Amino acid sequence: MLTIPDNAPFTGTQKMWLKGFLAGIAAGLPQAGASIPAAPAAEAPKSGLPVTILWGSQTGTAETYAKKLAKALTAQGHAPTIMDMADATVGLFSTVKHLAILTSTYGDGEPPDNALDLHTSLHAETPALADLSFTVFALGDSNYPEFCKCGHDFQNRLTALGAKPLLPIMTSDVDHDLPFKEWSASLLSSLVPAH
Ligand SMILES: Cc1cc2nc3c(=O)[nH]c(=O)nc-3n(C[C@H](O)[C@H](O)[C@H](O)COP(=O)(O)O)c2cc1C
Repeated sequence: MLTIPDNAPFTGTQKMWLKGFLAGIAAGLPQAGASIPAAPAAEAPKSGLPVTILWGSQTGTAETYAKKLAKALTAQGHAPTIMDMADATVGLFSTVKHLAILTSTYGDGEPPDNALDLHTSLHAETPALADLSFTVFALGDSNYPEFCKCGHDFQNRLTALGAKPLLPIMTSDVDHDLPFKEWSASLLSSLVPAH
């Protein structure tokens, strides 16, 4: 409680005004022992998007980048779901709206083992994919004649089925860190939640 000492050098009118002023301040102050609300945290995005991340990988590289992408999306307030291509069916492409594919190429332009069935069935079936927006990060090595073929296959097939590319395909040659950074940054800026 804030008070004015009796010997304070104010006139009666000044004291009355000050009492009212101090009472106003006291009313706005938290009571002793009352909990003070925490300051709002740094502003988070208002509503994130669900994004499915599908990875095809023989030796774990594409899977590692898929996990990095999930972290980056989560940090921006989006809601990523990571999937091994071996656990996906063609039906997935018609049920999700935002899809990021990361896949390597193996053998002589072949999909990695975990991507083989999905790659085959996507080329055998004809789902209509007009509601799907997608992007492909294709890992490869340009010493092989069929550079990043599996990534290109997914890009071309999904486009042919009516899906919309969010970005041009990003092919990556052996050293994937920089292309991944560039691709993931472009993806993040292209994912704008609807208001
Ligand atoms: C046996 C073998 C075959 C490969 N064949 C190709 C190929 O045909 N085209 C290509 O672009 N890269 C090819 N690569 C390179 C891989 O795609 C590249 O190393 C990639 O980063 C591996 O990622 P992953 O660990 O996710 O499978 C091949 C690599 C190996 C070891």
